[in-house]
Amino acid sequence: MGARELGLPQHAPASGLPSRVTIWEVGPRDGLQNEKAVVPVEVKVEFLDRLAGTGLTVLEATSFVSPKWVPQLADAEELLGKLERRPGVRYPVLVPNGRGLERALVAGCTDIAIFASATETFARRNLNSGLDAQFDMFTPVMVSARDAGLDVRGYLSMCFGDPWEGPVPYGQVVAAGKRLLDLGCSRLSLGDTIGAATTGQVEGLLMAFADAGIGPERLAVHFHDTYGQALANTLTALRCGVSTVDSSAGGLGGCPYAESATGNLATEDLLWMLEGLGVETGVNLDELVATSVWLAERLGRPSPSRVVNALAR
Ligand code: HMG
Ligand code: MG
Repeated sequence: MGARELGLPQHAPASGLPSRVTIWEVGPRDGLQNEKAVVPVEVKVEFLDRLAGTGLTVLEATSFVSPKWVPQLADAEELLGKLERRPGVRYPVLVPNGRGLERALVAGCTDIAIFASATETFARRNLNSGLDAQFDMFTPVMVSARDAGLDVRGYLSMCFGDPWEGPVPYGQVVAAGKRLLDLGCSRLSLGDTIGAATTGQVEGLLMAFADAGIGPERLAVHFHDTYGQALANTLTALRCGVSTVDSSAGGLGGCPYAESATGNLATEDLLWMLEGLGVETGVNLDELVATSVWLAERLGRPSPSRVVNALAR
């Protein structure tokens, strides 16, 4: 008999955790932006539809960025045109500039995310901009997006270390994050773009935000799993009061402009932990595993998620 039929993971609630966690599923965007081969749009549409069927309520669908920079997501219009959006599910998209916003509005998006860097070097490499200049790019996007009634999330990358600059001081991250929130972002997602963070850093950064008057209800965490720390870092963030967690089905992911980044925290690994802890998510783990196995067959390689591999046996 399999682990699930036997009732595993065994339920053992722990204190000091939120009763419910919102999973912000980034696989279709953060995952598929990093695939070497172009994934057919039909596969992307089915992937999103299957994910919606698992109970996930936020699916980051694609990006309206320059197709010269991220050819993997050049089919954003076609994808959203073919996708049957389900009631009760949000489909945010990444938007860097005015052109991206125009495209997102034409595609009928109601949720967008702008994405900044906490460091100068990554702002240049990812946005062809600079630490200060990136906010000049986002300001008019924000004004128009709010006029159009959109919800705008803010991402901040390289919050826990940068592959070109090394350690990033908490004060620098808080200052950049505050600029995104001051622009009007509804929530700020703290990105460990290269997966280098360890738990003390997570606690330290969240305390630095709290000291600046920014509590965990305004924050989300976004851990890549390069060094195997993503789940421990997530648990630390939950203990600090964060209740929105970014993850990707099957552990897909990376960033084409940060070669040292691997996949995000796998949603299945997160779900196994949260189910054990009795934290509600509304997501069906078994259906999600089946979806990741289905996608892995189409991508031609196994999922890196430990839970997917254990349950798919
Ligand atoms: P640029 O080259 O300075 O822009 O790039 P440009 O204004 O000179 O435009 C270059 C060409 O792209 C022009 O076309 C524009 O029209 C076109 P041409 O005249 O040469 O034919 N263009 C666009 N086309 C469609 N949609 C657009 C758009 N913008 C320009 N929106 C730019 C500046 C910001 C555009 C570029 O750097 C870019 O697109 N960067 C995005 C990179 C990216 O998507 N990275 C991955 C996402 S971030 C991430 O993964 C981190 C995260 O997961 C959190 C974490 O892990 O830390 C969120
Ligand atoms: Mg990412």
